[in-house]
Amino acid sequence: MMNREKEAGQSREGLLQSYQRGESIPLRKSLEDAYRSDSESDIDATEFLDRDPLNDYAQPAVPAYAPAQQLRKLRNAFTRRSKCLLIALAVLILIWSILAGGGFFLYKQKPADGQSPPWYPTPPGGTVTQWSESYKKAAELVKKMTLAEKVNITTGTGWQMGLAVGNTGPANIVGFPGLALQDGPLGLRFADNATALPAGITVGATWNKGLMYRRGKAHGQEARLKGINVLLGPCVGPLGRMPAGGRNWEGFGSDPVLQGIAAAQTIKGIQEEGVIATIKHFVGNEQEHFRQSWEWGLPNAMSSNIDDRTLHEMYGWPFQDSVKAGVASVMCSYQMLNNSYSCGNSKLLNGILKDELGFQGFVQSDWLAQRSGVGSALAGLDMTMPGDGLRWANGQSLWGPELSKAVLNGSLPVSRLNDMVTRVVAAWYQLGSPDDKDKKVVNKFIDVQGTGEDAHSRIARQVATEGTVLVKNEGNILPLSKDGWPALETHAINMRIGIFGEDAGEGRGPNACPDRGCNQGTLGSGWGSGAVEFPYLISPISALKTAFNSDRVYVTDFPTNSPPLKKTPEILKEQDICVVFANSDSGEGFIADAGVRGDRNDLYLQKDGDALIEEIATGCGGGKGSTIVVIHSVGPVIVDKWINLPGVKAVLMANLPGQESGNAIADILIGNQNPSGKLPYTIGKSLDDYGPGAKILYYANGVVPQQTFSEGLYIDYRHFDKNGIAPSFEFGFGLSYTTFGYSNLVVTPVLPKSPFPSPRPAGIPAPEFDSAIPDVKEALLPTGFRKLKNFIYPYINKASDIEKGTYPYPDGYDVIQPPSQAGGDEGGNPDLWNVYANVSVDVTNTGSVPGKEVAQVYLGYPDVLGEASNVDFPVSVLRAFEKIYLVANETRTVNFNLTRRDLSYWDVVRQNWVMPVEGSITIKVGASSRDFRLTGYY
Ligand code: BGC
Repeated sequence: MMNREKEAGQSREGLLQSYQRGESIPLRKSLEDAYRSDSESDIDATEFLDRDPLNDYAQPAVPAYAPAQQLRKLRNAFTRRSKCLLIALAVLILIWSILAGGGFFLYKQKPADGQSPPWYPTPPGGTVTQWSESYKKAAELVKKMTLAEKVNITTGTGWQMGLAVGNTGPANIVGFPGLALQDGPLGLRFADNATALPAGITVGATWNKGLMYRRGKAHGQEARLKGINVLLGPCVGPLGRMPAGGRNWEGFGSDPVLQGIAAAQTIKGIQEEGVIATIKHFVGNEQEHFRQSWEWGLPNAMSSNIDDRTLHEMYGWPFQDSVKAGVASVMCSYQMLNNSYSCGNSKLLNGILKDELGFQGFVQSDWLAQRSGVGSALAGLDMTMPGDGLRWANGQSLWGPELSKAVLNGSLPVSRLNDMVTRVVAAWYQLGSPDDKDKKVVNKFIDVQGTGEDAHSRIARQVATEGTVLVKNEGNILPLSKDGWPALETHAINMRIGIFGEDAGEGRGPNACPDRGCNQGTLGSGWGSGAVEFPYLISPISALKTAFNSDRVYVTDFPTNSPPLKKTPEILKEQDICVVFANSDSGEGFIADAGVRGDRNDLYLQKDGDALIEEIATGCGGGKGSTIVVIHSVGPVIVDKWINLPGVKAVLMANLPGQESGNAIADILIGNQNPSGKLPYTIGKSLDDYGPGAKILYYANGVVPQQTFSEGLYIDYRHFDKNGIAPSFEFGFGLSYTTFGYSNLVVTPVLPKSPFPSPRPAGIPAPEFDSAIPDVKEALLPTGFRKLKNFIYPYINKASDIEKGTYPYPDGYDVIQPPSQAGGDEGGNPDLWNVYANVSVDVTNTGSVPGKEVAQVYLGYPDVLGEASNVDFPVSVLRAFEKIYLVANETRTVNFNLTRRDLSYWDVVRQNWVMPVEGSITIKVGASSRDFRLTGYY
C-alpha cells in the first residue's frame, strides 16, 4: 500500500525536494516503475519521471512549481552563460504565468489530496441477465486471446493512426477486429456525404422523445454505414451548470431529467443500428478553461468538486439513465472530480459507475484524459484513447507495451485485464451480429444520408423546427403567410420584408473553418470535436426568398451586421417587416475564435448583434414596421437590451439547427409549422442572476484550479426559483400559434410508499478466467516485425524488460468495498425504476390551429427531517414530460409514470435513494417550470 509520504516522494514537489537535498534522482525510472501510479494521488508520477528534473524545471514552462532556491541555482547558471538568456527566460516566465492565469504566483499551493475515497476492486462485467449471452460469447473469445491481443483491444493505436479519431488494434488470431471510434454527437465528424444534424441543445428544445430517438437512429445508421463501431456521443456532461460553458450545446439542456431522457432515447436509436453509443463526459466537465492538462498552461487539469448528493441527483443522473438504456460505452472526462482525475478515480468508475449503476460496457478515456498507467486500470478504466499517453502522437502509451509489462510483472492483476477486454468484446456482441459487421463494405465516400422518405434531412428539418422556441409574439404577428400578411388579413399592397444580419446569410460557407471554429455566416453548430462537415447549410435568406410568394412579397436581404443604414436609410424605412438574425457561438477549448476560447466570455450576442437588433427594431418601417428577431445560439443569451423595444414584435430562439436551418425557420415564419419548442435552459436577465456557481473560472485559482459546486442542486431554474429571481424566460417556456388548457389531474398511487428500495438483487456470476500470469512470449515483438513510427503496439522487445518489484498500490486498495444497496442491475437497483405513481392530465387545444404542447411534471417535496436539520429540496424539479399533437378543440389524456427514483432523494448518510414517506409529494403539471396549471399530491 502506498502511504502519503511515499506518494509525496513521487509527486513533483517531492522529487524536487529530493533534488534540492542533493539526492540522486533517476532521470528515468525503470519503465515498470514509471508506469505505476496511484489512481487516488492524481498526479501521475510517470508524467514527471519521463523528464529530466533539472532540465524540466529549468524551463519557464513550470514556473508555478519552481521554489526560490531552484530559481537561484538556475539564475546563477544562466548568468554565467548569458544575460540575454536570463532576460529571455524572464520574459518567457512572464508570458507563461499570464497564460497560466496567474499560476506562477500560486506555487506554494499543493494540490488537494484524498478528497475522493478509494473504491476497489473493479466490479467485473457480466453480472446482469440482459448481457449474459454477450458475456458468454465474449468470455469464450477472450479465453483464446494472447496477452498481446488483449492489450491491443484496450489500447488505441495512437492519434491519427487509423481512419477514425480513435482506433483499437485487432485480436487477429481469434478474429476480433480493431474498432473504429468516431465523434459524435451532432453527426459524423470529418465525414463526407453525411448529415449535419441539429445539435443536442436543439434536440433538447424539441422535448419530443420520438424525435430524439429518430435522430439517434439516423446518427447510428450513418455511423454503421461508414464502418464506425463506436460513436462518441451522446453528450450529457456538461450538464449546463454554467450558461457560458463552451460545450453545453452538445448536450440537451440544463436539467438532469431532460438530459437523461434525451440521452436514453438517442442511445436507443444509435444502438438499434448495431453501433456502440458512448455517453460522455463522465463527469463534471462543465467548462473548457482548465479542462485538460497543459492545454491551458498548467500541468494539471482543474478539479470539479461535487458533493455526493449533487453528483447523484444532478450530474450523475443522466448517466444513470444512459446505463439503464443499455449504453455500451462511457467516456470519462478530462478534468478531476474531487481532486482525482476522472479517468483514474476509483470511487467514480469502480464505485459509482460499475457497482452502483451496474454498468456492463467499457469505460474509455477522453482523448489524453488518462493520466496514469496501472493506477487508471485499477480504478476502472478499460480502454485508453487515442492510445497516446501524456503527449499527443509521440508513440508512447501509458498502456500498450506498458500494460503488457504491468501484467507480466504482476502489478496489474490478470483478472482486471481480462475484465477490461471482456467488457469491450461483450459490448461488441451486445450491439448486433459481428458476422454482419465483418461483411460490411467500408467505403469512405459512401453516401449515408438516406433517401426519399428515409432521408435524414427530413429528421434534421423536423428537429430544427421543433427545436425552435417562440418566446414573444406580440399581437400574434406570427405566423406570416406565403403572401406575407397573415392569412386572415386583407391588404391591397404587397409586403416588403427586409432580412438583416450576417447570421441570416451564407457567409463563406458552412465549412469555412476547421471543426467549425469560427463564427461567420449563419450559425448551424458550435465548434470542436462535436461539429461536422456540413454537406450543405440552407441559410435563412435562401429559404425565405423561396418560401414567400414573390408576386406578393418583396424580400431584400442584408446579410451583414453593419447594413449601410446611414447611406441608404430607405432600406430600413421601406420595410413592413424586418427579420433580424443574430447569434452567439462557442465550442471546445482547443479552438479560440474572436477572443472566445471555448467558453463564452459573456451571455451577450456576438458580433454586435444587440446593437444591430436595436437599430433595426427602432428604424424598421420608419418606426412603424414590425421586427422579428431570430437568434441562433449555443445557449441562453441576454435579451434585455432589446426585448421590450416597441418595434420587437416576435422573438424566436432557434438554437443550433444544423443543415436544414433556413427551411425550418421559414416554415415557422410563414406558418407551415406551428412552433412547439420549449426552452431547455433559463434565459436570465444577467449572468449574475444565475448565481455565483454559474460563472466560468477564467483565471486559475491554484496549481490545480478548483471549481467547487457549492450551489449543489441549484443550477438554472432551481436557482432562480430558490432565490425568487424573475428570469426573462424560464426553463420549459415556449409559445405556440395556438393555446392549450389543462384539466382533470389524477394522481394514482401504483405502489405503496416505502423509504428504501428493495434489497439489492444478487445478479448472476461474472465469467471466470484463468488468473495465472501468461508466458512472456505472448507479448514479445514477433521477429521481423516492422513497427510504424508513433503507432502503438502491445509488444515488448525482450523478456528482460520485465522487472519485478513491489507495486505501490493506492491507499484503500486492499479493502474490498461492500456493494451498494442502490445497485444490483443495469441502471442501479431495479426497484428504483418501478413505477410508484401514475399521473394523468387532460390537455386541450383551445386555439384555432393544430399544434403540439409539451406537458411537464415537476415535483415539490415535503419537509423531511435529516440528521441535523430538514433535508433541503428545490422548489420544483422536472421529473417527466410528454409532447402531444392536438388539432383545434381536441382533448387528449396524457399519462406520466413516476418511478421510485423520481420520488426519492439521495441520502448521503444512508448511501441510498430515500423516498419521503411522511407528508405528501406535490405534483405540479403545466406548460413550463413556472406555469403550473394543476397540482396534485402523492
Ligand atoms: C473531446 C471528446 C471527443 C474526443 C475525440 C476530445 O477532445 O473532449 O468529446 O470525443 O476529443 O475527438
